Amino acid sequence: MADVVIQTRNLTRTYVRSGGKPFNAVDNLNLEINSGEIFAFLGVNGTGKTTTMKMLLGLTFPSSGSSTILGGEISNRSIRSRIGYLPEESGLYPFLRVEDVLRFHARLFGNTRKWRSERIEAVINFAGLKNKAREQLKNLSKGFRQRVGIAQALINDPELIFFDEPASGLDPIGIKDLRAMMLRLKEDGKTVFLNSHQLSEVELVADRIGMIHEGRLIKIGVLKELLGTDDSVEIQMSNISEDNARKLIKDIPELNEDSWDVEGISEGVVVYLDISEFTDEIIAALMSAGAKINSVNKRVKTLEDLFSEVMQETQIT
Ligand SMILES: Nc1ncnc2c1ncn2[C@@H]1O[C@H](COP(=O)(O)OP(=O)(O)OP(=O)(O)O)[C@@H](O)[C@H]1O
Ligand SMILES: [Mg+2]
Repeated sequence: MADVVIQTRNLTRTYVRSGGKPFNAVDNLNLEINSGEIFAFLGVNGTGKTTTMKMLLGLTFPSSGSSTILGGEISNRSIRSRIGYLPEESGLYPFLRVEDVLRFHARLFGNTRKWRSERIEAVINFAGLKNKAREQLKNLSKGFRQRVGIAQALINDPELIFFDEPASGLDPIGIKDLRAMMLRLKEDGKTVFLNSHQLSEVELVADRIGMIHEGRLIKIGVLKELLGTDDSVEIQMSNISEDNARKLIKDIPELNEDSWDVEGISEGVVVYLDISEFTDEIIAALMSAGAKINSVNKRVKTLEDLFSEVMQETQIT
């Protein structure tokens, strides 16, 4: 079994709304993150992702519950020195040059001058900042400032890295670079805890995801397993009317009437099946009525589909 690097026990943070009513921004959260994984924390705006991260980092305190990180307490300096953090809004100093910011952060971790120079060079390369090292931050675009934040988060060669919305402000190339950076960190054996709204990106990098809603963990699991449960099929055809296709499918006796749908499109008709079980019978029935089958595709569930599904279920219950 993999080592657990983050563990929370009923972690809770209560805030008071402007009207004076208390609410749990994070509500009895029990979470375990394994060494070497990329874990993505998902949820709509204002639902407790940043608050969770800040509690794990000791930047804000829990109202109740507790957490351990890298096997100890975040108040322990030697543990903090093994962690990196890219905040949601970086408070980087606008008049400093990129390399000065990084030097400043490198100094916080002590070590030798040689170590500092090597780390600065490494993170500058890693974050794609080679041509910007001597620029003042105030003259950089938002995306490049974000890259400086990423470089700064990695200056101490951390084992565990927290990224709060790392793709914010990045252009499509930057987003692709970020993906490669995260996968490289994983390859190097690091653990990544990511808050993100970029579901298509998360889908490409995350090993496990957790979904949080109004402070509560509503779903957690291995991404591949969560997405692998879709068994639906899409059949595109021509040479048949929507009404006729509908009638033929209705006549298949074993088929549950809520498990399929037919839609007219410009090239003909599409049949959607929630489960694949009766695909062959349906195709046979449609072909015997003269339909020309143009494609049969198993629909693959995306993380966006899963997210919408889980959110819908949560609103109902
Ligand atoms: N210092 C604070 N005082 C009072 N309420 C706060 C404080 N910080 C956060 N909140 C509230 O706690 C809730 C959770 O906020 P949080 O920043 O954790 O959300 P989030 O999931 O990170 O959202 P986003 O996706 O927008 O970044 C929100 O309702 C927010 O308004
Ligand atoms: Mg946030």
